Amino acid sequence: MTNLPPTIEWVDGVVRIVDQRLLPTEVVLLDCIDLDALIEAIATLAVRGAPALGAAGAYGVVLAAGRAGDDADQVRHEARRLAEARPTAVNLQWGVDRALAAYETDGAAGALRAAHALAADDVAMNERIGQLGSQWLRARFGDRPLRMLTHCNAGHLATVGYGTAIGVIRTHASHGLVEHVWVDETRPLLQGARLTAWELGRLGICHRVIVDAAAASCMADGEVDVVIVGADRVAANGDVANKIGTYGLAVLAAHHGIAFMVAAPSSTLDAATPDGGAIVVETRPAHEVARIGDRLVLAEGSDVYNPAFDVTPAKLVTVLVTDSAATEPSRTNPA
Ligand code: MRU
Repeated sequence: MTNLPPTIEWVDGVVRIVDQRLLPTEVVLLDCIDLDALIEAIATLAVRGAPALGAAGAYGVVLAAGRAGDDADQVRHEARRLAEARPTAVNLQWGVDRALAAYETDGAAGALRAAHALAADDVAMNERIGQLGSQWLRARFGDRPLRMLTHCNAGHLATVGYGTAIGVIRTHASHGLVEHVWVDETRPLLQGARLTAWELGRLGICHRVIVDAAAASCMADGEVDVVIVGADRVAANGDVANKIGTYGLAVLAAHHGIAFMVAAPSSTLDAATPDGGAIVVETRPAHEVARIGDRLVLAEGSDVYNPAFDVTPAKLVTVLVTDSAATEPSRTNPA
């Protein structure tokens, strides 16, 4: 039990999410009563994070099936529309596919059973990631409390529950082995500052928020033992797509000889994508960069490029922790 609200759940025929656009100032539960509402919630990041998007994909198919009934073509069409709401996190397509396959054989009730099973599995996988990641850290660093650095939000709020990168952090913290966590604020949408810091606060884990640009000097000052991040898609060769800024952290970690851990459930592994070059990186609207809150911070006429993710080559990853193993890809990161 934690004092964190459920990220996503099925309640009386609607998909209920905690509206992450409003956190941390307001904790508001939002009921998505139809697929359009859910797609809007996904596109505007009211619900976000790869594993949570997997559950949203599955429950979204249930919503579509409830509306379209026996019209399987319509359900398939709606499922495609849903899967296209965000392109980078493979979990969204995966969740849609799982629920759609169940719908094809067992109708809407089957899709709902599949979505519930997927949601329960997600929490179990994340808890296992937490154990395996913490074991790896103990083998590597012993029983010394660690200074960790994380980026974006790969926690409870990015999953059905527990978190991936933050799952490792909280399991390690439960052994008294986290000194503190540096939280990258994560421009432009501040998932680190708004979500991770709030989540760590609710979990009672000591943390400090830094601007993204401060990570380099924290590392140079010897203040970081390990970087721990999540993933939106891990290609067959181990390249990792994650929130923009992750690649820079991996380069910095390699330069400073710091371990770089990626934590992701098997639902984020994409054997069909050979390498990072084949991953579609979502580009988001200019206003996310041009505005901070309500304030326009760009001079009129300045153009914006706003990629939401980047790709870290496998060789910069010290360890990839999934729900089944902690593996160390061949790497150039000397950590
Ligand atoms: O754009 P977002 O907030 O959906 O991006 C989320 C991330 O990049 C997370 O690090 C990733 O999905 C892993 S979540 C366990």
